[in-house]
Amino acid sequence: MGSDIRGLVVIVTGAAQGIGANYSAFLAEKGAKVVMADVDEPGIKVLAGKIERSGGEVVAVRADVSSQQDTEQIASLAVQNFGRIDGLINNAALFSALLPKRSIFDIDVTAWDRVMAVNIRGPFLCCRAVLPQMQEQKSGSIINISSNTVLSGVPGFLHYVTSKSAQIGFTRALAREFGSDGIRINAVMPGLVETLIVKERYSDADQQRAIAVRAIRRAQHPDDLNGVVAFLLSKDSEFITGQTFNVDGGALFH
Ligand SMILES: NC(=O)c1ccc[n+]([C@@H]2O[C@H](COP(=O)([O-])OP(=O)(O)OC[C@H]3O[C@@H](n4cnc5c(N)ncnc54)[C@H](O)[C@@H]3O)[C@@H](O)[C@H]2O)c1
Repeated sequence: MGSDIRGLVVIVTGAAQGIGANYSAFLAEKGAKVVMADVDEPGIKVLAGKIERSGGEVVAVRADVSSQQDTEQIASLAVQNFGRIDGLINNAALFSALLPKRSIFDIDVTAWDRVMAVNIRGPFLCCRAVLPQMQEQKSGSIINISSNTVLSGVPGFLHYVTSKSAQIGFTRALAREFGSDGIRINAVMPGLVETLIVKERYSDADQQRAIAVRAIRRAQHPDDLNGVVAFLLSKDSEFITGQTFNVDGGALFH
């Protein structure tokens, strides 16, 4: 049956496509109330409409997670619509937008700074925006979406891997700060997930290589991340904080 997340109010950033879109549909299907945030306004509206038509409770908001004002708006909207904030999934990132991979010499300073602004400042600002409400409630669960590239150190993706590594330290330090408020902060590291964009932009050889090093030798799908996310949002994980869950079919162990 899985972890019970019925009635939880959960913010998902980067919800317009890929894994974030899948989290949103899954959480709504399991009875959570979902606030979907993304810079891609048309994308998010279309998806929110679809989820609503199948009976889910969602609100969609155009927001850039690197903007303090936008992240405060996400939190306000959650409280206005649903009265509380139980979960935040810091999923928005510059990931597929960075492909193809490139060497350090082809990553200019502007690109480096933008990755840090979205992938690190974004989660920082989203946490700052939701934490006061969670403190008032004396409960909350924050999930930072990192990447198993932190463990493998893949080449050609230096800004991305650096930003995803920062999320681990961020998760641990924040967990220490808010444990006594009843707020838990954990990180999830997906492996290479076959989203539509990954299928399009990674060569077949790259996708086969990712499968070959897994203990469980198959493609990873967005649905493979649903269980860990539901578990971390639910009471089933109430004594777990500051941890990193690597969900990559056993490609890497840590
Ligand atoms: N797909 C994979 O193989 C994989 C592997 C490991 C980790 N991850 C991580 O999982 C998460 C989702 O991955 P994905 O493959 O769905 O990514 P994706 O690149 O397909 O989608 C990212 C989403 O974030 C949104 N976004 C980008 N910048 C934003 C901003 N400033 N403010 C708000 N939204 C913004 C985009 O519009 C998009 O909807 C990311 O954090 C990624 O780093 C993905």
